[in-house]
Amino acid sequence: MSAVAGVLFAANWKMHLGPTEAAEYVRRFTAQASPSGARDLWFFPPAVSLPLVAQAFRGRDDVVVGAQDAHWEPKGAFTGAISMGMVRDAGGSAVLVGHSERRHVFGETDAETGRKVRAALANELVPLLCVGEKLEERDAGRTAGVVVRQLEAALDGVGPEGLARLVVAYEPVWAIGTGRNAQPGDAAEVHGVIRDWLAARGAPDGLRILYGGSVRADNVRALLAAPGVDGVLVGGASLDPEGWAAIVGGG
Ligand code: PGA
Repeated sequence: MSAVAGVLFAANWKMHLGPTEAAEYVRRFTAQASPSGARDLWFFPPAVSLPLVAQAFRGRDDVVVGAQDAHWEPKGAFTGAISMGMVRDAGGSAVLVGHSERRHVFGETDAETGRKVRAALANELVPLLCVGEKLEERDAGRTAGVVVRQLEAALDGVGPEGLARLVVAYEPVWAIGTGRNAQPGDAAEVHGVIRDWLAARGAPDGLRILYGGSVRADNVRALLAAPGVDGVLVGGASLDPEGWAAIVGGG
């Protein structure tokens, strides 16, 4: 990670780009002009591509590679799962926790996100904790309540030292993969709620809060200009290496 924390651009590839395609992606991405200025590039490839991507970016202190999910137990009879320690061993240094697809497609509970955050910290991985409300919750005026409930559960038992290593992403569920991003003002409002909650629990001022949900080349600058938005977590628009290079390279 760079010494100066810059704007954080995180790419969540979801279930795209296996090892062969990932290798081609990295080749095309690194062929683009290197972005200038303080920015951090984080990649969350599928687990099978993680070692290759981590190896390809070795020595680049502006790049972090992480897993999209990992189990809280260190090992055992959990068919299909990988542990935090395995992520580290494979070259990862971060892990997404509580992504909305884990919560709403795979049924991950608030309590499970808490176990994962604590396991990530214990394994020296940076947890990138995702929170966000569903459309009916927003319509019912419950956005702040939902986000605070998710933070409370995920960060139960995490003290200031752990909070200092955390990154949070606000990802409204209705904005993910829908083409309908939050307005910068709405994102700023929720980021403020998150920041206040974290500050009251001893998180440092520099804790980064990202926005995610239908971020594209044509809206990323406006979202990054919103107060309290320290970076973006991007799914669909990160899958094309030239498009991603354009998103991280400008502004
Ligand atoms: P999207 O996904 O950019 O495709 O909306 C964001 C995410 O799920 O992290």
